[in-house]
Amino acid sequence: MAHTGHRVTLVDINEARVAGLERGELPIYEPGLEVLMAKGADRISFTTELAPMVREVDVLFVAVDTPQGEDGSANLSSVAAVAMGVGRALVGTCRERPLVVVNKSTVPVGSSDYVSMLIQEGAGEAEVDYRVVSNPEFLREGSAIYDSFFPERIVLGADQRDALDTMRALYEPIIEQAFPTELDPRPKSAVPFVTTDLASAEMIKYAANAFLATKISFINEIATICELVGADVSSVAYGMGLDERIGSRFLSAGIGWGGSCFPKDVAALRALAREYDHEPLLLDATVAVNERQRKRVVAKLQRELHTLKGKRVALLGLAFKPNTDDLREAPSMEIARCLDSRGARVVGYDPVAGKAAMKQFPSLKVTFDPYEALEGAHAAVVTTEWEEFRELDLDRATSLMKEPSLLVDGRNLLDPSDVRDAGLSYRGFGRG
Ligand code: UDX
Repeated sequence: MAHTGHRVTLVDINEARVAGLERGELPIYEPGLEVLMAKGADRISFTTELAPMVREVDVLFVAVDTPQGEDGSANLSSVAAVAMGVGRALVGTCRERPLVVVNKSTVPVGSSDYVSMLIQEGAGEAEVDYRVVSNPEFLREGSAIYDSFFPERIVLGADQRDALDTMRALYEPIIEQAFPTELDPRPKSAVPFVTTDLASAEMIKYAANAFLATKISFINEIATICELVGADVSSVAYGMGLDERIGSRFLSAGIGWGGSCFPKDVAALRALAREYDHEPLLLDATVAVNERQRKRVVAKLQRELHTLKGKRVALLGLAFKPNTDDLREAPSMEIARCLDSRGARVVGYDPVAGKAAMKQFPSLKVTFDPYEALEGAHAAVVTTEWEEFRELDLDRATSLMKEPSLLVDGRNLLDPSDVRDAGLSYRGFGRG
């Protein structure tokens, strides 16, 4: 936002986080973000105080966590706390235009009305001037900056024309692709600005994520059948993906999807459907296939190592995907837990998520060098497709590992013949 000409204030209740941001320290790893934040520093400020900020701004993005509750539904307590705070802060203020409160957090369909109600509740009897709109977020971790500047669409749900106009103006530089040019490559055409009602905007986010998760589970199902019949899922995905109606992206088979969005959003959508007494059969299957992929890793290891007790297994990659240090719902963590419970000694390596993994999983041994993880390992699993694993010195890996020197490629990242030539046995997913 700062880079496209706006002044931005970031509010967080976590004082340590705000102090860190003021020193230029980011609380997350995201490629390119530190440089961009430094460039925009004169337009960005930080605070822990919501109320003064609410009085100053035209648009307020609510981008707080909506963690998954026990029944799969989204927990809206952080959103509610912010909404009440906004209501309280609006009391007694005189505004030229209504404050536009943007729901950026992924919230169940119908939550905009709930946010509206809470703002009013926070304001008590006072009459306050605000609008609530929904503007779901589609950026991917690891390519967040590119996705923010070059989104494939901007979706906006609003009930009132004036709120829609404010949001259109706010996004104008992105829609028209008119901002400093160093961020090439850039698409030439304008970004579609999709306007709809609040419920549909909220639903677009869930439907998009559920569809992508289903696409991955679909190719994973096909991969398993490929293994049974001796076909190669990479060729199958390539051949399928050339059909524009299918598309080639999100057809990589392996240990399945994780992260902060897909698992939580699919769970929330299933919970929402059940609230209305609807059995979401396809979404249930999407999740079941994904859970099975983790188990299939363990099965592949067990088939070759027989008992897992006392066997050393190296996990190459811990983050749920490359270019992030995020471990939320990472397949690696689930696989580590399962191997650990069966008596295997699990050693993990990740170029950026190692420290976080140690905190989250104290019994996991973490190394800061992939070869140290491989030393004495009976088997290794590629759990995250970090680029550096493509360059792995396979001969060195073979010399360090113990019989049966098995490599389970959970991301179909390596060339099976290279691995076998180096003297390791190779098991991928759906590769015949
Ligand atoms: C996702 C959505 O893509 C994004 O639009 C939304 O805003 C947030 O959720 P993200 O969680 O950052 O983004 O990761 P993404 O790149 O979509 O990958 C999700 C998971 O699917 C990862 O675990 C990834 O390894 C897995 N995946 C992805 C596959 O297993 N196969 C594929 O072909 C693609």
